[in-house]
Amino acid sequence: MRVLVTGGCGFIGANFIYYMLSKYPDVEIVNLDKLTYAGNLANLRPLEQGPDKERYFFVHGDIADPGAVSGIFEKFRIDAVVNFAAESHVDRSINDPAPFVTTNVLGTQNLLWTAQEKSVPRFVHISTDEVYGSLGAEGKFTESSSLAPNSPYSASKAAADMLVRAYHKTYAFPAVITRCSNNYGPYQFPEKLIPLMFKNAQEDKPLPIYGDGQNVRDWIYVTDHCLGVDLALRKGRPGAIYNFGGDAEKTNLEVVKTLLKQLGKPESLISFVKDRPGHDRRYAMDFSLARKELGFKPEHTFEQGLEKTLSWYRENQEWMQSVQSGAYLEFMKQWYEDR
Ligand code: NAD
Ligand code: TYD
Repeated sequence: MRVLVTGGCGFIGANFIYYMLSKYPDVEIVNLDKLTYAGNLANLRPLEQGPDKERYFFVHGDIADPGAVSGIFEKFRIDAVVNFAAESHVDRSINDPAPFVTTNVLGTQNLLWTAQEKSVPRFVHISTDEVYGSLGAEGKFTESSSLAPNSPYSASKAAADMLVRAYHKTYAFPAVITRCSNNYGPYQFPEKLIPLMFKNAQEDKPLPIYGDGQNVRDWIYVTDHCLGVDLALRKGRPGAIYNFGGDAEKTNLEVVKTLLKQLGKPESLISFVKDRPGHDRRYAMDFSLARKELGFKPEHTFEQGLEKTLSWYRENQEWMQSVQSGAYLEFMKQWYEDR
């Protein structure tokens, strides 16, 4: 099976490519990535130097560019598409929503259009729990919860989900949507909570927690998400939506305190800063449908996953240095100055 993975140079896409190539000797991957600030060729360097390199092809391009996408289908027979490519950071979407609409909405439309024209037998669209909005103290999101996105990021993801749904209904296109909770693990760009807190703690810098730190996320180790996507790719019902979660609800303050403890750093590094506008209070996923139909079950507790993650970041300090371009540092500086 040859799978077109989009956004494979990002955090989850790169982990998914490693996961698939090591699990299935008959799988080949074509990776289409625009190499934005979040896409890093270094994420796949070990692969390009290892025994699986013959089954991996990289194409530099934009999912929103019709020529780039159709060119791939002319060059390669594609058996399935997994669409990870996205602008993915909520804070950036608040500062500048336009690229989120271009990539997440128009890019997904372009990919869907070409894939259905080429009669691709399988399309998995990677979405997020954030499309459901925010929960109160009780309850969990199910696949039939209404969509109520609160940030430009989640609104663009919800719009893409609607297009995927419409392609299934209108063209009987065999697409599946997966919605996952917050991921963490190796190769995550240090603008997201866990790698940013690791980086700051290592450098004895303040760890900025938005608001009161009581916002809750349901954390999932990235390879558990990869397992879910693999199951959806192989066994998902066309037209279905599957929630994935980690069964690990934590407040941000709990996450940061656990991280500091594992790193042997003091809690005095914690610094409460101005809240994110429109900050969703709580996410929690009911993934009983994925459990029942796909056999999905996360394999890591939060403590196990965090330990693996922190060990990886400790052993890969060079990676951390390499992803921090001038543009990224400028963005973060501005962001903190605004607070
Ligand atoms: P990321 O920001 O780390 O990586 C995104 C990748 O997409 C990068 O390699 C980037 O270069 C590429 N890309 C961006 N625009 C592109 C374009 N126009 N054409 C081609 N490539 C492009 O993101 P991530 O955290 O790996 O997230 C991957 C997917 O999973 C996204 O769709 C995101 O919405 C979804 N998701 C993420 C999380 C999470 O916790 N990170 C949770 C649920 C769902
Ligand atoms: P983030 O990793 O940006 O993911 P998302 O917004 O998609 O959930 O943020 C996770 C949580 O951590 C979210 O509630 C915002 C909070 N947060 C902070 O408190 N401080 C930070 O510096 C960052 C990046 C996030």
